[in-house]
Amino acid sequence: MTSTVVVGGFFGDEGKGKIISYLAIKDNPKIIVRGGAGPNAGHTIRDGDKVYKVRMLPSGFLNKNAKVMVGPGVVVNPDVLLKEIQDFGATGRSFVDKNCGIIEEKHLTSDSKGELKEKIGSTGSGTGPANADRAMRVLKMAKEVDVLSSLIIDVPDEVNSAISQKENVLVEGTQGTFLSLWHGTYPFVTSKDVTASGICADVGLGPKNVDEVIVVFKAYVTRVGTGPLANELSLEEAEKKGWSEFGTVTGRQRRAADFDFDLARRAIMLNSATQISITKLDVLFPACAGKTSYAEISDEAKSFIENIEDKLKTPVTIIGTGPAINDVIDRRI
Ligand code: IMP
Ligand code: MG
Repeated sequence: MTSTVVVGGFFGDEGKGKIISYLAIKDNPKIIVRGGAGPNAGHTIRDGDKVYKVRMLPSGFLNKNAKVMVGPGVVVNPDVLLKEIQDFGATGRSFVDKNCGIIEEKHLTSDSKGELKEKIGSTGSGTGPANADRAMRVLKMAKEVDVLSSLIIDVPDEVNSAISQKENVLVEGTQGTFLSLWHGTYPFVTSKDVTASGICADVGLGPKNVDEVIVVFKAYVTRVGTGPLANELSLEEAEKKGWSEFGTVTGRQRRAADFDFDLARRAIMLNSATQISITKLDVLFPACAGKTSYAEISDEAKSFIENIEDKLKTPVTIIGTGPAINDVIDRRI
């Protein structure tokens, strides 16, 4: 197996960042490449007592042997990217494609007010307005920005060369299936397609060069911002269950609901998933916290997993049991 694509199955914040950082270390890919919208994404990664919040840099940056790259389909905020590279010690191994679009001050300004902010609950990161400018063919490209010159690389060429040499490549998505501009709950969506096909297009990976598609679902559903959420719990109910969470980028409280099989089934279809990852199993079943072997979890937790496999006809291979990178049950091995 050489190429693995990881995407979110619900509304983002499924815990992809942690799963990707686990895979980045465990599978030791040569390249970790990020697709998706832009710095509207936020991943939280915990390594020992260090907590990283990443918005632009690929979540796999903790593997120091890998080159981390941002694909041409992603819009980049140079300030955010350069700060993350610096703060997270990823200098010399972080790259952006020459054709990444650039978020400028005017995009931040227009994203922080008006329709997008009020009606859609946009993250205010400038991502949507920059993608609109890209569609209008007026957006600045990374190759025109001096501060990025030392990071510029041909990402599709790097990715496809590595695959043809049978090297492992890890492709990371952002947001989640139902925030896709094509397949989500329009208009309450992000400004790109963020299903596996869209993520692959973002990095220049053709459909025949994908070996595994891992769709990540949290053990319950959350949604930040506006838009439909079936069977939404009141904030009180969510708090009682321990499901109350706050956004990585915006700090807003996330809305919550039970695991949704209808959405999950559709996400499996839209992404042609070959594997499922379930995160935060320990939040539903506290006795699972920190467990690393399937044999060790309760019968109740096992039935939760097996019911998902049964209903979705796809194996659950990677299970998150806590916030740390190695709080994982890896059933591939
Ligand atoms: P925008 O992409 O910032 O315009 O936001 C559009 C909608 O997608 C809003 O409801 C955001 O809260 C949501 N959204 C965008 N990116 C993410 C993400 O990475 N995780 C969760 N929600 C997101
Ligand atoms: Mg997030």
